[in-house]
Amino acid sequence: MTARDPSGRRRFLRGSLAASVVLAAAKPSVAAWFPPTPAQPAGPFYAPLRPLSIDNDLLYLPGSSIRADGDMLHIVGQVRDQAGKPIAGARVEIWQANAYGRYNHPRHANSNLKLDPNFQGFGHDETDAAGAYRFRTIKPAPYPDSPVWLRPPHIHFAVFPPGGPTWTTQLYFAGEPLNATDHLLQGLPTDADRARVTVTLTPPPPDLEPDSRVGTFDIPLGIPGVKREKI
Ligand SMILES: [Fe+2]
Repeated sequence: MTARDPSGRRRFLRGSLAASVVLAAAKPSVAAWFPPTPAQPAGPFYAPLRPLSIDNDLLYLPGSSIRADGDMLHIVGQVRDQAGKPIAGARVEIWQANAYGRYNHPRHANSNLKLDPNFQGFGHDETDAAGAYRFRTIKPAPYPDSPVWLRPPHIHFAVFPPGGPTWTTQLYFAGEPLNATDHLLQGLPTDADRARVTVTLTPPPPDLEPDSRVGTFDIPLGIPGVKREKI
């Protein structure tokens, strides 16, 4: 499935314009009040490949034109406070398993799952003045967290707002059968909480790759006293 794609990063930059359009359409009213995104554990695989993770494009390693395996995703969203005010300058990090369910992390080194040498696995972005961030990545596969627990596809998030505490959560994909049996997702108190961390993938706008899909994951940050995960 790996293919050379020298224009990949250029197309990603063009795609970011479309992502901005998506975000602009979803811009909230400042009069609204947004329940906070539920916190989820960072898990054992945080910060793999940190020296290589210098951008928000996980599809290609820096300097490489070899595309990672897997179904291409654009994950876009807006970090804001609960009044809907964008939070600019927040560092947003993601990390995830590859298309075979494998984390490129020492703690996953004893896995029999395939390692994709072209998948960055970890990336970061910084929110702009509109609080917007974006990533290009692939859809992760499920992976066994224990002999009896197969985790559904998910992407880990950590948000570092300026001057604020770290916030971690996990993004899930709507329609995944394993969502119904996942202890972490089902451990959230309400269906509304689960909905806040579950994204429905949609077809791309014309400016993005036709074979990609888009997931919009807005992140209203919580108020003091809401659980936060130290990583
Ligand atoms: Fe995970």
